[in-house]
Amino acid sequence: MSFPASTPELARGLKGVILDTTETSFIDGEAGKLLYCGYNIHDLAEHSTFEEVVYLLLYGHLPRLAELRELDMALRRSRSIPKEVVDVIRLVQAAHPMDVLRTAVSALAAFDPEAKDTSEEATIRKAIRLIAQVPTIVAAHHRIRSGLELVPPNPDLSHAANFLYMLHGREPNHEETRAIDVDFILHAEHGSNASAFAARVTASTGADLHAAIVSAIGTLKGPLHGGAAEAVMRMVLEIGEPERVDEYIHQMLAEGRRIMGMGHRVYKVEDPRARHMRERARTLGEKMGQPKWYRILERIVEVTAPLRDRGISLNVDFFAGAVYYLLDIPEDLFIPMFAIGRMPGWCAQVLEQMRNNVLIRPLLHYVGPMDLEYVPIEARG
Ligand code: ACO
Repeated sequence: MSFPASTPELARGLKGVILDTTETSFIDGEAGKLLYCGYNIHDLAEHSTFEEVVYLLLYGHLPRLAELRELDMALRRSRSIPKEVVDVIRLVQAAHPMDVLRTAVSALAAFDPEAKDTSEEATIRKAIRLIAQVPTIVAAHHRIRSGLELVPPNPDLSHAANFLYMLHGREPNHEETRAIDVDFILHAEHGSNASAFAARVTASTGADLHAAIVSAIGTLKGPLHGGAAEAVMRMVLEIGEPERVDEYIHQMLAEGRRIMGMGHRVYKVEDPRARHMRERARTLGEKMGQPKWYRILERIVEVTAPLRDRGISLNVDFFAGAVYYLLDIPEDLFIPMFAIGRMPGWCAQVLEQMRNNVLIRPLLHYVGPMDLEYVPIEARG
């Protein structure tokens, strides 16, 4: 039996490989800096809305007032989903919400009049429709599986407020709306992460936007990507009281376990997105008379100070779970929340790939046996 002679240098996991150029986002993991189309995430989180960030990512520049109004109207008009897709959601309602989302987006392709059109103009129109429809799918599925009446989209509400309204059946207040609006802004785009890469690979074959978004949703589902927000909140609930933090965390570290919501492949200092979720977790907790969860999180930050010297700092998920928990969003919807926010980033990267396409097709180095003798099945013993 012979084997291939030499092993070339491998880039396993494509770690450190620069795939292409991009104008969608810039990440500096050493400085803790994140820009969308040149704009600092802090400015966007503090002053912008999700709708404005959608415009920025799809068109590459900030909108004028009239341009933003037009996009906002288009999003509001596009929120409903066909009855047939609601039927599909009913059929698969027992599955994980990410499986339901993936299936429903796939089904939407059958009802989109431009599904197969891969021109830039049609892809932008489809991106707007899909960005608007994804929250409706997530909320509709949750109500169906809970045995509740569906709540139709409300065109008087913003993207974030309407999502909470469709989910809970009541209009959220300003604080609740802003917490989710900021959460969506912070999740909107993040370079060549696994799901955006999957969307690009699919688009690079000439497939359409629905196909690329289905790939992205499937890729986001895995625990190495979908975030650790639910694990953080589970840990916080288990700790229960701020006084119990020190003992709990010291034991975790002594056992060599990882503190969820800390550490990042790219960021070696605090993830710039964490700051804004921290602020939301604090203000929401105070407003809702539940400051305890934020206090527990802050004590965890203090106790884990030595991790920071090793480049293990807070990531965006650390405070996100508490925000979702306070807003009564069930644990298994935390990853779909990420998907709702990431929709414009996926669409922007598909558009970028389509504009200057090259088939993404790396190589594998074969390490199995070579030139084996084929033995007929009846002679194999
Ligand atoms: N708590 C304690 N120690 C940690 C943590 C953590 N959260 N994260 C990394 N370390 C330690 C590892 O044990 C390892 O130590 P060692 O060198 O002594 O073995 C060292 O830091 C390097 O860890 P790697 O896993 O090699 O680093 P990598 O950059 O590949 O990991 C990851 C990044 C997967 C995010 C990791 O930090 C982790 O598991 N964090 C917890 C889960 C989490 O919060 N995930 C969400 C990521 S953000 C997002 O998806 C939106």
